[in-house]
Amino acid sequence: MKYLSIKEAIKKGKGNVDIRGWVYRERGSNKFKFIVLRDSSGIIQCVAKKENFSEKQWNELKALTIESSIKITGKIKEDKRSPVGYEVEINKFNIIQKADAFPIAKDKGIEFLRDNRHLWLRSRRMTAIMKIRSTVFGAVHEYFRKNSFYEYQSPIFQSVQCEGGSTLFNVPYFKEKGVFLAQTWQLYAEPEIFALEKIYTIAPSFRAEKSQTSRHLTEYWHAEMEMAWASFDDILNHGEELIKYIIKKVIEKNSEELEILQRDIKKLNISIKKKFPRISYDEVLKLLKEKKNMKIPWGKDLRTVEEDKLSELYDTPVIVYNYPKKVKAFYMKEDEKNPKVVHGADFIAPEGYGEIIGGSERESDEKKIIQRLKEEGENIKEYKFYLDTRKYGSVPHGGFGLGIERVIAWICKLDDIKESIPFPRTARRWTP
Ligand code: 4AD
Ligand code: MG
Repeated sequence: MKYLSIKEAIKKGKGNVDIRGWVYRERGSNKFKFIVLRDSSGIIQCVAKKENFSEKQWNELKALTIESSIKITGKIKEDKRSPVGYEVEINKFNIIQKADAFPIAKDKGIEFLRDNRHLWLRSRRMTAIMKIRSTVFGAVHEYFRKNSFYEYQSPIFQSVQCEGGSTLFNVPYFKEKGVFLAQTWQLYAEPEIFALEKIYTIAPSFRAEKSQTSRHLTEYWHAEMEMAWASFDDILNHGEELIKYIIKKVIEKNSEELEILQRDIKKLNISIKKKFPRISYDEVLKLLKEKKNMKIPWGKDLRTVEEDKLSELYDTPVIVYNYPKKVKAFYMKEDEKNPKVVHGADFIAPEGYGEIIGGSERESDEKKIIQRLKEEGENIKEYKFYLDTRKYGSVPHGGFGLGIERVIAWICKLDDIKESIPFPRTARRWTP
């Protein structure tokens, strides 16, 4: 038997159809039983008339519970009263499994839904988010492949830090001190650009973030690129084009889902059309002082509050570049004219979604890298493999990392990054 998806059945619009799925809603009277059936493609109302069934069958239908799995054969026809404009009159049915009482009901709080994420995943809201998530992953692959990047993988067990010791996960390994979980692919990507030149990945990254915020996970998916012969502008251009491409694809493929999430597509469209403003750290301090009355001493990193205030001034992501060297990672290239700042940039999303991309041109001077690693108290010997990249045919290069969940949270306008990933991990949540 060939089963149609609910979407296909609606497209067919008339005649007999075989469909299967889960009971999304049910109600009945002594003559009729209404079932709203759900599958991955959508929902449709089905109706059974008592007169068409034996008493045994009718009792089975009457006892049907939410989330029971069922196969239905029936006649589809247009019906203005039903939620999607079509209805299936049931001729035959086969209950595959009658579900226990489903724990998720309307009035449940956010923590309850997170405790039951394995079931909440079936909600229309989570389904919409997961479809958009799938589009985002696909768009990242498409963008980089269209631009002749090779897909490449770094190890997850790593011997050195890259983004600062405070967010490192140290895990037991065979050796005494254990190893670190990847914060980024970067130090293992740079050696490969001397062979493949243009590479990208999508992989999990790990950060031991102790604080509970709406934009930090301890395990998140990281889309990263690294490129030989690249100027700072080349890196920023790819970051901007990638974001535009992702949004374009989501609008193309997921208009239904954006509607379920009540996301204003016009707001997203602006970021496809307009060029992202690029402003230096120095200019940001001036802007925040003039427009938001915030006085930030030169040399301090921008915190969440400052990023949010800055994002209020724009309706697209804004690219902040040339940060003070002392707040940025050891590998970022010193500016030739001003050694106090580095060619590093953050993309700050609009609507208060924070940093979605961090990237930089890489320092080419081995001595400067060693100096900065020493200042951070690192053991230089551990970085031999990385320092070798600067010894044998070093070229100007750089790259960036994009936080997939931050981008999804922004695109879907979620209250919390935890809703953008199937099973969120934070300092306080590692179950289910
Ligand atoms: O700015 P970050 O730390 O940069 C790097 O890791 C570079 N090595 C990337 C590179 O140049 N290849 O992280 C990159 C992005 C951030 O802009 C943010 O979007 C995301 O990763 N991110 C997180 N997302 C969710 N939860 C967290 N705890 C995150 N930490 C960073
Ligand atoms: Mg960053």
